[in-house]
Amino acid sequence: MPTEGTSWLQDDEEASRTDARLRQSVRRSIWKMLLWRILPVVGVFVLLGLAIIEVIKRYLPSSGTVQLPAFVLLVTVVILCPLIILSARKVLALVVNLEMAHLELLVVLSKAIAQRDNATEEHNLRVAIMAVHLAIAVGLDRRLIPGLFIGALLHDVGKIGISDTLLLKPGKLMPEERQEMERHVVHGNAILADATLPGGARRVVQYHHERFDGNGYPEGRKGAEIPPEARLFAIVDTFDALTSNRPYRQPLALEEALDTMEFERGTHFDPDYLEAFKTIAQALYNRVVRVAPEHLMKQALELVKKYYTDSSMKSIVLRKLIK
Ligand SMILES: [Fe+2]
Repeated sequence: MPTEGTSWLQDDEEASRTDARLRQSVRRSIWKMLLWRILPVVGVFVLLGLAIIEVIKRYLPSSGTVQLPAFVLLVTVVILCPLIILSARKVLALVVNLEMAHLELLVVLSKAIAQRDNATEEHNLRVAIMAVHLAIAVGLDRRLIPGLFIGALLHDVGKIGISDTLLLKPGKLMPEERQEMERHVVHGNAILADATLPGGARRVVQYHHERFDGNGYPEGRKGAEIPPEARLFAIVDTFDALTSNRPYRQPLALEEALDTMEFERGTHFDPDYLEAFKTIAQALYNRVVRVAPEHLMKQALELVKKYYTDSSMKSIVLRKLIK
């Protein structure tokens, strides 16, 4: 049986095919880099090994019984092995640091977005963590999880393109103002268009205001036409908004928030995903909504360690490594 959301991977695969030439050139560059760095070192050590043998033969004639090629191999291997292990550890540390720096940069960007928009800095981190937990609960294909996580962090990045007057306007928006505000998903998609991110990240940004009944925006997609990442995200985004403090109201308690969301089952929210969410809502409320901000980053890093083994993320890290 196909895993939830697997069909959406076809879009990503299409995108990766068009990207194949770039990937090939990345691979070539890495090999070139390795050959240029390793071959001269190997050459130097082989010459050094040969020189050592010559010295031994000249000054210790009794060692003439030693098989020359075997001895050269032994000397070079003994010298090279620790060097290769040290280099590999350095490269690995560099890759891990880059991956962490990449995530931290995304978190910084998401905090910057939140600063412009009355939302708390932690909102983006909380919805990213909850989206991943909900994805696991509904059995979403785990290859889609890194994209979902990044998309959740950056879902409102397009608000950068909305004026402060409109973004911070108190009270209700006029119809034309609402239309302009809704364009944040289009701005967000344009901002991320050239970024090397998993496809799911853009799907969250572009479709997180679609509604299950087709009355959302920007395209009015309905039901399964809405990417699963965006359907999942809509649930956790609303839950976090309801259970968070807002200038105009107190946070709702868990039961009140779930009752409010129940009214929108099948209209705003995917009924199956909402059902799955209700089974984990209490745990998320205790572990994500009601915890101090420092615990959120720790939880986010744990999720990254677990799910960022996906090949597209590896390719991002490699691209950054050779730039
Ligand atoms: Fe939004």
